[in-house]
Amino acid sequence: MRRLIVAIDGPAGVGKSTVARLLASRLGYLYLDTGALYRAMAWAVIESGRDLADAEAVAALLPTLSLQMQFHQGTATVLVNGKDVTGDLRTPAVSAAASVVSAIHAVRVWLLPIQRQIGQDGAVVAEGRDMGTKVFPAADVKFFLEADPTVRAQRRHRELVAAGHFRVLEETTADLAGRDKRDRSRSIAPLVPAEDARFIDTSRLSVSEVVDQMMVVIAARL
Ligand code: DC
Repeated sequence: MRRLIVAIDGPAGVGKSTVARLLASRLGYLYLDTGALYRAMAWAVIESGRDLADAEAVAALLPTLSLQMQFHQGTATVLVNGKDVTGDLRTPAVSAAASVVSAIHAVRVWLLPIQRQIGQDGAVVAEGRDMGTKVFPAADVKFFLEADPTVRAQRRHRELVAAGHFRVLEETTADLAGRDKRDRSRSIAPLVPAEDARFIDTSRLSVSEVVDQMMVVIAARL
C-alpha cells in the first residue's frame, strides 16, 4: 500500500475538518489540520499584544516563537512556546485573527516547513486553504470542497453554539463572509482550487457520503 498525501482545501464551514478527520481515521492516516497552526499563530500574536494587521510587528515575533503539533491517537495538541493552547483555538476572536495573520507573507513562509515536515512521510490527510496549490503541490489526491454560503453559515453556527459560544446566526454569516473574502482575495496563497483538484459540493451530502466519494478516488491510487 502506498502512503499517500491527500490534500483537502475549501472555505470555512464547508465541512473540511470533519470530513478530513473521518477520512484520516478510515485510512489510518494522520490528520493534519493546518488551520490550527494559523490559529495558534493568531493566538500568539494576540497574547503578545501586537497589532494583528501590522505585518512587520508580527514578522518580528516569529523568531521568538516555537510552534509544535503533537499527535496522539488521532488527536493533535498544539503547543505555543511549550504551552498547550489547543482548547483556545476555536473562539470567534481567534478565528477572525487567524484569517488576518494568515495573509502575512512572513507567517506563511514560516509555517511552510512545519506543515511539510509533518507530511513528509505521507499517509496524511492535510486540510487547509493551500494544501493542493502551495504546501503539497505534488499531493497524490487533491479535493476542493464547496457548499452554499447559507449552508456553511448554518453549519458553523451549530458548531459554535455546541461549543458554548453564543452567537446569532446573522453574526456567524457575516463573520464567514468577511473571512471568505479575505481568504480568497489575499495576494499570497489565496484560497483557489489546484488545477488538478476534484470538486465536491457538500451542500446536500452527509459527512459519510463525502468521505465515501473520496474513498472511491483514493482506493484507485493505493
Ligand atoms: O480552517 P480554519 O478555519 O481553522 O482556518 C483558520 C484561518 O487560517 C482561515 O481563515 C484561513 C487560514 N488558513 C490559511 O490561510 N491557510 C491554511 N492552509 C489554513 C488556514
